[in-house]
Amino acid sequence: MMKYINEINKRRTFAIISHPDAGKTTLTEKFLLFGGAIQIAGAVKSNKIKKHATSDFMEIERQRGISVATSVMSFEYKGILVNLLDTPGHKDFAEDTYRTLTAVDSVILVIDSVNGVEAQTRRLMEVCRMRDTPVIVFINKMDRDGKNRFDLLEEIEKELKISLHPMTWPINSGKDFKGVYNLHDKNLLLFTANTKASDDDSIQITDLKNKMLDNKLGEKDAGALREDVELIDGVYGELNVDEYLAGKIAPVFFGSAINNFGVKEMLDTFIRIAPIPRSRETSIRKVDVNEDRFSGFIFKIHANLDPKHRDRIAFLRVCSGKFERNKYFHHVRLDKDVRFSNPYTFMARDKDVIEEAYPGDVVGLFDTGNFKIGDTLTEGEEFFFTGIPSFSPEIFKEVVNKDPMKTKQLEKGLLQLTDEGVAQLFTQYGGNKKIIGCVGELQFEVIQYRLLHEYGASVQFNTVPFYKACWITSNDPKKLEEFTRFKSSNIAIDKDGYTVYLAQSEWFLNTERTNNPDIQFHFTSEIHKEAV
Ligand code: G4P
Repeated sequence: MMKYINEINKRRTFAIISHPDAGKTTLTEKFLLFGGAIQIAGAVKSNKIKKHATSDFMEIERQRGISVATSVMSFEYKGILVNLLDTPGHKDFAEDTYRTLTAVDSVILVIDSVNGVEAQTRRLMEVCRMRDTPVIVFINKMDRDGKNRFDLLEEIEKELKISLHPMTWPINSGKDFKGVYNLHDKNLLLFTANTKASDDDSIQITDLKNKMLDNKLGEKDAGALREDVELIDGVYGELNVDEYLAGKIAPVFFGSAINNFGVKEMLDTFIRIAPIPRSRETSIRKVDVNEDRFSGFIFKIHANLDPKHRDRIAFLRVCSGKFERNKYFHHVRLDKDVRFSNPYTFMARDKDVIEEAYPGDVVGLFDTGNFKIGDTLTEGEEFFFTGIPSFSPEIFKEVVNKDPMKTKQLEKGLLQLTDEGVAQLFTQYGGNKKIIGCVGELQFEVIQYRLLHEYGASVQFNTVPFYKACWITSNDPKKLEEFTRFKSSNIAIDKDGYTVYLAQSEWFLNTERTNNPDIQFHFTSEIHKEAV
C-alpha cells in the first residue's frame, strides 16, 4: 500500500460541463493557458462541434477526429498535474459525456448568467449526483446583463438540488460590471476586458470599511458590496471542504471566461480543494486508490472513421497501482491477458507513448476490437468496476436490413458499434427485430453511414413509438416472466441479455409501475453490474 502516494497526491482529474454555449470551450482554453499549454488552446476551439452543422454529421465526425487529441488535456499548474477530460458539447452525444463523468473525480459546471439553469445542465447534474461528484460552479458571462445574482443562486440551488457557497461576489453585471470580491482571500479584483488576471491586479481589502473600496468602486457600489457581503458571510461562513468533497455543497465563482476574468481565482481554489484520485467500488469490493496492484477501466472508445485505418482507441482510466507499457494485464471480461506496446498519454504539448501511468491518469490504448465500455483490467483479480451504467436512450428506431445478402456484416457492425457506445442495441422479445436506442437523431445518421462504409451493410430506420427503456427486475422470477409474456410487444433484451421494458409514454410507464408493484423499473443498467 501507499507505494505511489506522491504520484496520486499530485493528480486532479476532472471535466468541465455545461449546456452548449455557456462557455465550456472558452474556459478550457483559459485553463490551458494558465497551465502553460498554449499551443493546444487553438485546437480546443476547432474541436467544438458547430451549432449550425447539426445535419452535417460528416463535419461532426471530422471534428470528432480532432477531438481525440483534446479528449484528455493534461497540464501542470503550481506543481499539480491536472487531467482535464473533454466532453462533447453537442447534446446528441450526451451519453459520451455521461460516461466521461464516470472517469473523473470532480467537475466544474459552467452556467451562463443570462440563461441560468438550462436543460443540459439539469441532466448533467443528475449524473453527478448519482455519484456524489464534487462540483464547483462557474457563473460565466458576467459582462452581460444577467439575472440578479441572488435570484440566480436560488435558481441553481433549487433546480440542481445542491447547496451553493459563493467564493467570489460580483459587483454588478453587464456594462456596469466592475469585478468580483474574493470572499476567501478578501481581495477585490477589478474587471478589465481581456485581462491576464495575474496576482498584481487584485487589491487586498481585508476590512470592507476601508475607504479604498469607495475610491475603487464609487460609494454606491461599495455600499452595495458591503451589504451583500455582510449578508453572505452571515449565511455561509467558511466553505466546508468535506461537504464539497461529499458532493453536498458547491463553491461558486463569478466571472467572464472570454475576458479571462475570475478564472484564476477558481483554478487556484480548484487545485487547493478538488479531490485527488478517489477509491472506487467494484463488483466485489472497494478498490483503494493506494493499492499497489494496478486496476483500471475503459470509459470511452473512439473509432477511426477512415476505412483505411480501422483502429480504435480505448480510453483507460487508471484506478490503482501503476500501469506499465508492455506488461501483461488481466482483461476480466475476456478472461485473457493483454499487453500494450504503444500506450499513449495526452500531455497537452504532444501525444506521446508512455512507459507508465498512475491513478487519475487516462491512457489511450490501440484496440482491434477487444474492448467495450466498462471493461476492467487488473493484475489478475476478478472484478468489474461499477458505476459505469447505460442510461435509457431517448429515441428508438427499428433497424431494417435493405440488403439480405449482408445480414452477417450488419450483425457484426451493430455489435461493434454498440460496443463503442455509439448507441444501444435491443432485440425484440421472442423475435428478431433489432431496435437501436440513441440520445440524439445525429447518431442514427452516423450509424447508417458507418454500417455502409465500414461493413458494407445498408440499412434504413423505422421509427418505433417508445420514449424510454427501463431495465426490469423482480424478487419473484415468476412475476417477471408473467409480465414479460403479457407485455411482450413492449419487451426487449439488451446486449448483455437483460430484460428491458420499452414504454410508449410516461403515462404507460407510470401505469405499469402502479399495476405491477412486484416489478422494479430501473432507468440505468447499473443494477445488473452490481449483481455480477
Ligand atoms: P461552449 O463550449 O459551452 O459551447 O461555449 P463557448 O466557450 O464556445 O462559448 C459560447 C459563446 O459564448 C462564444 O461566442 C464565446 O465567445 C462566448 N463567451 C464565452 N465566455 C463569455 C463571456 O464571459 N462573456 C461573453 N459576453 N461571451 C462569452 P460565439 O459568438 O458563439 O463564438 P465565437 O465566435 O466567439 O467563437
